[in-house]
Amino acid sequence: MTTTPQATTITIANQKGGTGKTTTAYNLAHALSHEGKKVLLVDFDPQGNLTLCFGIKQPDKLSVSMCNILDAIMSDKTIPAAETFLHSQGKIDLIPSNIELSVSEINLRDEMGSDKILTSLLEPMKENYDYILIDTNPSLGLLTINALAASDRVLIPVNPQLWSATGLTQLLNIIVKVKKRINPSIRIEGILMTMCDFRTNLYKESFRLIKDHYGEIIRIFDSQIPMSVTVGEANFYSQSLLSYHPKSKVSMAYQDFAKEMIQHGQQ
Ligand SMILES: Nc1ncnc2c1ncn2[C@@H]1O[C@H](COP(=O)(O)OP(=O)(O)OP(=O)(O)O)[C@@H](O)[C@H]1O
Ligand SMILES: [Mg+2]
Repeated sequence: MTTTPQATTITIANQKGGTGKTTTAYNLAHALSHEGKKVLLVDFDPQGNLTLCFGIKQPDKLSVSMCNILDAIMSDKTIPAAETFLHSQGKIDLIPSNIELSVSEINLRDEMGSDKILTSLLEPMKENYDYILIDTNPSLGLLTINALAASDRVLIPVNPQLWSATGLTQLLNIIVKVKKRINPSIRIEGILMTMCDFRTNLYKESFRLIKDHYGEIIRIFDSQIPMSVTVGEANFYSQSLLSYHPKSKVSMAYQDFAKEMIQHGQQ
């Protein structure tokens, strides 16, 4: 008998800009796919960076993207057919976004039950995937709240160079509020250290502080992502690390992380 997969939905969030959210979403999806998992990537950032990573050169010219889907849901119209908005790379699908998503964010303000708009799109899609990864924008606004409302777990990429205790505490407070008020089943998957320059004192000190502050309450993944120029090169060629340089340290780190995450999910 074959069982229908029921995706685990993971929001990748940190309101600080440039912590590696998009890079993690894209490369984790490829690493999970390499492990045989079917993944849906959701670009939920008006910057459309994940959409660009996926090789869509002009996100602003897409005829159907996330904003059209959200607008349809908000105006009680039929959601566009999946084949009009899903883009595929092997076992990975993407729902793309562009700058128009910022208009949807404004419209969400006046919408009844606005927190659950993304949930109503993703819930029926869960049966088609093992993982749904949502890439969010660097803010704690309505888009991020919608993503958290639709998720089973939150993954927090932390860049040791940009880390601040206040910023992380604000994010944790929002997650607690979402758990209390909108989505009781959400839990924190863990902190992923990204862009690590292991030799520097800055890395060592930040990591020590993060462990001291949060190590008791939040999992800090053993896998850590090194700082590497390979990331920029792979992005430039719109390739995943796994296809651009599979044996590079940074690609191996994402593969290790995917395995650790799968294992963690099974515990
Ligand atoms: N491990 C890494 N080594 C070197 N550069 C990296 C690494 N990870 C990400 N970068 C680079 O850092 C920049 C920011 O990464 P990314 O876009 O993934 O962050 P983000 O958190 O999604 O940013 P935003 O908050 O703007 O959405 C990008 O130019 C990316 O290529
Ligand atoms: Mg991003």
